[in-house]
Amino acid sequence: MELLTSYGERLQKHIEATIPDKEPKHLYEPIQYILQLGGKRLRPALTLMTCDFFQADCEQAMPAALAVELFHNFSLIHDDIMDEAPLRRGHQTVHEKWDVNTGILSGDAMLILAYQLFEAYPAERFRELAKLFSKTAIEVCEGQQYDVDFETRDDVTLEAYIKMIDYKTAVLLGAAMKMGAIVAGASERCKDNMYEFGRNLGIAFQLQDDYLDAFGNPKTFGKQVGGDIIANKKTFLYITAMNNASPLQAKELESLSSITPKDPQEKIAAVKRIFVNTGADEALQREIEFYTEKANTVLSSVKMEETNKATLREFGQWLMRRTV
Ligand code: IPE
Ligand code: IPE
Ligand code: MG
Ligand code: MG
Ligand code: MG
Repeated sequence: MELLTSYGERLQKHIEATIPDKEPKHLYEPIQYILQLGGKRLRPALTLMTCDFFQADCEQAMPAALAVELFHNFSLIHDDIMDEAPLRRGHQTVHEKWDVNTGILSGDAMLILAYQLFEAYPAERFRELAKLFSKTAIEVCEGQQYDVDFETRDDVTLEAYIKMIDYKTAVLLGAAMKMGAIVAGASERCKDNMYEFGRNLGIAFQLQDDYLDAFGNPKTFGKQVGGDIIANKKTFLYITAMNNASPLQAKELESLSSITPKDPQEKIAAVKRIFVNTGADEALQREIEFYTEKANTVLSSVKMEETNKATLREFGQWLMRRTV
């Protein structure tokens, strides 16, 4: 998407000017590595865009935008350790290229660098941004822990799943947008509405991530397709399949999620077949539309130029149909 590219290029310059490239190499190289692999740069684009759309100079939001992207990349390094993921953005994950300890410390350093970036703001604004950032960061940790806990549980409800993805993913998108509104000096109501818009979009975004994890194209997705199935993640697909399954299908799905075969391809194919045969894949698409619509309803009450709202809606539509 063009808009993403243009914000991404501006962010790139800021990354190059800000992120240390120095000794010790084993601390900073992995940081440079993960950042240079790029990704969609979705969250910083949301921060910059929101600041722009409230009629402020989005350069002012650059430190906050970079802080959000650093936090996101830190969480990916640690998430890949926790998920034992081999691939990220089409390349080796940090813990595979180096080792787990390197991933832990480089990730920690990124989190600290992210906090440091807020020092660019005057006291009042610093406080507001740092407060939102801390609240969000601890929620992401809570979401990540639920995600791991759910792997070994078989009683996870859709409600519990939505709460889990709200925390591990959606609140960061909400916070990214709210930070843009904070820097632009928007009203309390507008700030809160942008948070809710981003958050609902974030839920739709994680639902689509779950869909792509099972049904994405391995050539373009950039992550290991089937990773969630291998790890027995309790995703929307899994829970809905279980809810819709015949007794026979339920038994099969249950037994598939209790095995850890050396070559997981057959397990992945069998689980995907059940996802399709129970209509879980179609239900997931409807759920994505539901949360995107919900986001759009929130946006309607924001005081912002209609053309800017239209761009944000378009952005939501694009997210819903993404393939990476
Ligand atoms: C991946 O996020 C992690 C999730 C919360 C689903 P992205 O899909 O935004 O990852 P990059 O930054 O574009 O690689
Ligand atoms: C990641 O969720 C959420 C965070 C990193 C906090 P996933 O585990 O689904 O993300 P991917 O699929 O590895 O990108
Ligand atoms: Mg993961
Ligand atoms: Mg994970
Ligand atoms: Mg995923």
